[in-house]
Amino acid sequence: MSRHRGSLVLRPIGRVEGGAIRIHRRWAKGLEGIEDFSHILALFWLHQAGKPALRIHPKGIKALPKLGFLSTRTPHRPNPLGVTVVRLLKRRGSTLQVEGLDAWEGTPILDLKPYTNRESIKQFRVPEWIHRLDTVETDPVRTSAS
Ligand SMILES: C[S@@+](CC[C@H](N)C(=O)[O-])C[C@H]1O[C@@H](n2cnc3c(N)ncnc32)[C@H](O)[C@@H]1O
Repeated sequence: MSRHRGSLVLRPIGRVEGGAIRIHRRWAKGLEGIEDFSHILALFWLHQAGKPALRIHPKGIKALPKLGFLSTRTPHRPNPLGVTVVRLLKRRGSTLQVEGLDAWEGTPILDLKPYTNRESIKQFRVPEWIHRLDTVETDPVRTSAS
């Protein structure tokens, strides 16, 4: 196993452009077959995230409990990785039109993976504050990936 002495290098394979995922030409052939999936997992680097904080109120909402960042999806973390399931609407060459991507314009895309039944968990538990967050969600970036 290779060792990483405290850091490692990630090379983006594309970026968010016009709300779509645009894969760099060098990796475009790697998209072959992706249109057969309805949903994909997009992994990206939240490059404009702020300084990480150990404990935060989700979305800065004081009415919600203060929690360790690892219990939340805050972008402000030591490694600001974003992971989102998006619906694949259309592929045009190296550009994927998607629904549900909560990443800003220019966000570096690190990887894409097909979403399969192996990733879908039918029964899971979440704390009560998650339901409260759903009722106050105001972020305009994300459109739901149904
Ligand atoms: C809370 S993060 C969650 C991302 C992903 N769904 C996850 O759970 O890993 C998504 C939010 O971060 C913000 N954001 C989007 N792109 C960003 C970027 N490139 N740098 C910093 N913040 C970003 C937007 O407010 C967006 O709604």
